[in-house]
Amino acid sequence: MKVLGIESSCDETGVALVDADGAAAPRLLAHALHSQADMHQAYGGVVPELASRDHVRRVIPLLRQVLAGAGCEAAAIDVVAYTRGPGLAGALLVGAGVAEALGAALERPTLGVHHLEGHLLSPFLSPGAPDFPFVALLVSGGHTQLMRVDGVGRYELLGETIDDAAGEAFDKSAKLLGLGYPGGPALAKLAQQGRDDAIALPRPLLHSGNLDFSFAGLKTAVMTRLRALGPEPTAAARADLAASAQAAIVDVLVAKTLRALEQTGLTRLVVAGGVGANRRLRAQLDAAAARRGWQVHYPPVALCTDNGAMIALAAAMRLRAGLAGTSRTGAFDVRPRWPLEQL
Ligand code: KG4
Ligand code: ZN
Repeated sequence: MKVLGIESSCDETGVALVDADGAAAPRLLAHALHSQADMHQAYGGVVPELASRDHVRRVIPLLRQVLAGAGCEAAAIDVVAYTRGPGLAGALLVGAGVAEALGAALERPTLGVHHLEGHLLSPFLSPGAPDFPFVALLVSGGHTQLMRVDGVGRYELLGETIDDAAGEAFDKSAKLLGLGYPGGPALAKLAQQGRDDAIALPRPLLHSGNLDFSFAGLKTAVMTRLRALGPEPTAAARADLAASAQAAIVDVLVAKTLRALEQTGLTRLVVAGGVGANRRLRAQLDAAAARRGWQVHYPPVALCTDNGAMIALAAAMRLRAGLAGTSRTGAFDVRPRWPLEQL
């Protein structure tokens, strides 16, 4: 079964073809991605209308690239999957519309996928896929959640952010420091030259006893500390602030994730979403897990941020588990707001 995946929920157009034959692990045949980061850079964040228009421009050329990479004709596609939500409505509609049109033209069924389920299952594209059950830390630009995952489609929310997402905290801190968009990788890079403990920043809800997060206050704290550095902070001071902000975000993520594993008694952790690419986060989770004999699973680095492969994969896994109905009606809707627990 060859599943095509189309991702267009935010500022990345992703297309991929996954093969899921028999009981063997799903295999990525080809994937192609276009990031709009450069286009949105000038505005300091994603401009929804520009995002939609760019998805329109990119999706068919990316599809051609994927088919060429996999050495397939379009007729080889068995199912067309796309991101149904959550995300930007206009952007989602582009992927959904193209997927439905393709399904109609090829006379193949379509399947709308939950974006976060894609992130959650993306480590199944890495060698040594995790066994169920596991705890998943989902950290992206829009979400920060800890989930208990007992199987495909069996997700229990353990905790989540009550305001900003972890990626947003990275992006907003980076913006204050005058770094580009998306800010996560830029802030992480600048942080390498700074000292993690140079500037005291709050670790919100660290001792709250529950598994919720709050990152909105951190942005304000970074702003206050930056002002205190005067109109022209030195390069070293900016690097110290970047390192301290990263340390504050990572400390909270690590502490809550370890608590989630302790509370559930589970010994396997999956880390997914764009912030999962952060080296400090990975190093601290790996070290803490190694001390306790726990396993940590990540998607391949290139598939941490948004991509079509995770959408094709999630569709294939749902179909295999007998959980998803495909559609051949050509009718579709998208769900810009769609809690994962409602799946
Ligand atoms: O999963 P993703 O690609 O898109 C959403 O669904 O949101 O995540 C994007 C987020 C952005 O906030 C970006 O700044 C952050 O992931 N990010 C990072 C790193 N790479 C991406 N944050 C920290 N360190 C990184 N290396
Ligand atoms: Zn995402």
